[in-house]
Amino acid sequence: MRYKVAEAGALTEGGRLIVSVRGMELGLFLINGKYRAWRNVCPHAAAPVCVGMVTGTRLLSNVYEYEYGLDRQVLRCPWHGWEFDLATGRHLAGGAAKLRGFEVEADDTGIYVVLSGKE
Ligand code: FES
Repeated sequence: MRYKVAEAGALTEGGRLIVSVRGMELGLFLINGKYRAWRNVCPHAAAPVCVGMVTGTRLLSNVYEYEYGLDRQVLRCPWHGWEFDLATGRHLAGGAAKLRGFEVEADDTGIYVVLSGKE
């Protein structure tokens, strides 16, 4: 079932909204032209991760090199600084930690989050 969470055009590139769907708080983001919805609960210790700073990060590089990337695509948890790729939800250090995501649909009537009913 899909739930309207915002009017069409409510988010611009890099924008964020905190929305509520069936009592569940989500962070809605527009990243690289695609909407993403992540549950506003950090997999580390349950902080409201979606209110964290959106930034970039230092990419893997050779010794003595510094390469910045993923600009405005990295969500940093406000409690302990874990960083997640907003496009995939994955923790930047790898491993199993990942934000819980939901499908988003958008058309000229609004922006919708799709829930399967198992949430
Ligand atoms: S609660 Fe998010 S990094 Fe600890």
